[in-house]
Amino acid sequence: MQTPYYLIDEGKLKKNLEVVRHIQELAGAKSVLALKCFSTWGVFDLMRKYLAGTTSSSLFEARLGREKFGKEVHAYSVGFSDSDIKAVRKFADKVIFNSTSQLARYCDMVKGLKLGVRVNPGISYSHYDLADPARRYSRLGVVDDEDLLQVAPLLSGMMFHFNCENGNAENLVAAIEQIGRRYAPLLSKMEWVSLGGGIAFTQPGYPLDRLCSALKTFAENFGVQVYLEPGEAVITGCAELVTTVLDVVHNEVDIAIVDASVEAHMLDHLIYHTSPRLSWPAYGDHKTLVAGRTCLAGDVFGEYALMAPLSIGDEVRIADAAGYTMVKKNWFNGVAMPSIVVKRLNGNLELVRSFGYSDFKRSLS
Ligand SMILES: Cc1ncc(COP(=O)(O)O)c(C=O)c1O
Repeated sequence: MQTPYYLIDEGKLKKNLEVVRHIQELAGAKSVLALKCFSTWGVFDLMRKYLAGTTSSSLFEARLGREKFGKEVHAYSVGFSDSDIKAVRKFADKVIFNSTSQLARYCDMVKGLKLGVRVNPGISYSHYDLADPARRYSRLGVVDDEDLLQVAPLLSGMMFHFNCENGNAENLVAAIEQIGRRYAPLLSKMEWVSLGGGIAFTQPGYPLDRLCSALKTFAENFGVQVYLEPGEAVITGCAELVTTVLDVVHNEVDIAIVDASVEAHMLDHLIYHTSPRLSWPAYGDHKTLVAGRTCLAGDVFGEYALMAPLSIGDEVRIADAAGYTMVKKNWFNGVAMPSIVVKRLNGNLELVRSFGYSDFKRSLS
């Protein structure tokens, strides 16, 4: 395989998916894949066996969910337009509005579908203000309980998304109980409730029994079908960005320039000022910067202590390269777009997509 490429390992993905199945079996909670996190449809055949469907944040994601995943399609958007609604009603089973004004404006156009609203309970465990749905002036979801009571007759469900990589089951359980108390009169009128994504239930040691019993109790108390909307938890640890060292320069430290880019191929790390782990080479005590090949001065994957100095032609594998990564790749500097390779369950490596100059050219005009 020619680098750079994203390598998705179906064996690892299956292990995460088995946790999803476990939660459904133990708690009755169905999971729909958050396409905003991961929409690489080349592995949907495997994912479809474990997940109840998809949830989307736009018309195009909803359409992809219908065309490539099937099963249930939950269509949410922070702001639907008239043309979105006309199109999305062909793809969606459930339409989830971000505000009561969008619900009032479009409910007649989506008659026959199950309708929901996103509710903002003002609870948050986000480590980043940028990703905090409960931050001041947040536009994400309905904050006024009176507004909710008024529109309740139009609704069959409610969606709460308030987590962000929350690995702490205790505060999650407390939040679920808090939501139960605050919205009890509304919840008991609903058929379904989505508790959103951001629950790190595939982290090693995550107390799944605790999560499952809280979800089950919530579902029984209000007589609702509970959904989760995992993105990161499903795909975490399942992919690498495989690169080759193109050059090694020295400016106080050794700097290995690889044939990929943080800016173009793992943008979230720049946005959140984080640094990915390397899955290859192994760590040691040789200080090296691994940097991208774009002209951005800060296009640096990170500073690592490696087992040996890197040389031109060496392979560098950047870990956890799927969630919020492949969906955000871009053509900055016109650098080569990593292909997509899948390691199937039988161990075969399959090149499912490669990109060339014509893709770059077609992305603009
Ligand atoms: C409404 C909604 N649902 C689900 C998710 C998926 O979250 P995660 O990938 O952290 O599980 C998000 C992420 O932002 C979201 O906004």
